[in-house]
Amino acid sequence: MGLIRTIWPSPFEVDKTAYFETLENALFMKILVATEKPFAKAAVDGIRKIVEDAGYEFALLEKYTDKADLLAAVKDVDGLIIRSDKVTAEVVDAAEKLKIVVRAGAGYDNVDLAACTAKGIVVMNTPGQNSNAVAELVVCMMIYMSRNQLTPEAGKEVSGKRLGIQAYGNVGRIVARYGKGLGMKVAAYDPFVAPAVFEADGVEMVDSLDKLYETSDFLSLHIPATDQTRKSIGYDLLTKMPKGAVLVNTARKEVIDEEGLIKAMEERPDLKYITDIAADSQALMNEKFGKRVFATSKKMGAQTAEANINAGLAAANQIVDFFKTGNRKFQVNK
Ligand code: 3PG
Repeated sequence: MGLIRTIWPSPFEVDKTAYFETLENALFMKILVATEKPFAKAAVDGIRKIVEDAGYEFALLEKYTDKADLLAAVKDVDGLIIRSDKVTAEVVDAAEKLKIVVRAGAGYDNVDLAACTAKGIVVMNTPGQNSNAVAELVVCMMIYMSRNQLTPEAGKEVSGKRLGIQAYGNVGRIVARYGKGLGMKVAAYDPFVAPAVFEADGVEMVDSLDKLYETSDFLSLHIPATDQTRKSIGYDLLTKMPKGAVLVNTARKEVIDEEGLIKAMEERPDLKYITDIAADSQALMNEKFGKRVFATSKKMGAQTAEANINAGLAAANQIVDFFKTGNRKFQVNK
């Protein structure tokens, strides 16, 4: 066993044949599922089965509150499945044998890609696997705010209103479909998506972000947190929104310029904000804006049994496939 461990090559450095021969010889792999926010039991059972059927060892670390627990758990693992768990340079450093990290989900801003790449660790995500759950939460959030957080005060219907979608990826496309199903007028902005995609979906393609904000009664965010998008949604865009508009955030808190959001909401008492990721200044916002804001207690867009099973099993299959065949289809640190 020690020999297998010591002869393990970096997948970035070796000749393919030698690499696969080594993989074939590597009979023992330890795969850790580390989820501060646990998967549904059915997903964990399914992951365990995939890992054990492949002849590998399964390990589980759930609901950890101390980073030290994660650092200790990753020490001897070959593969790691995570959710929003932070794989920092410190974690990468502690994981002496790690070869692959799969983020069971879409966004991988929680993984230090540079640190992984430097150590030859492959990082993957499981795009699309939890999208439906997030899209359903967007529908829930729009209606929740339109009905004054389910209080008896007369609310508004979403039907007939304009829904703007910022970023038309896996989640955005499903949100568009559900919005149309609710009788909303749906438009989207995504400079990285071909016009034919919008055309096929019967969704209006808007050619500027300003225009999307100006024309959306509900604006749903689906951008990842990157150097380009961090703090990109703030005062200027928000004050362009029509009277009574609602900003729905199931993406990342980092894309919001919180000072700008607060300023816009102070100046515009009609604006509302609902988020699946509490803002850093959420307590202040709750105090200032009352029922005009709402944040879930924990990020729960992808927290359904179905999404957990889809993303968790996909992650386990991707790891096994990587070790058995070298498949890197979903690698994000190329
Ligand atoms: C994602 O990027 O896939 C979602 O934000 C889900 O995150 P979670 O797995 O932590 O719920």
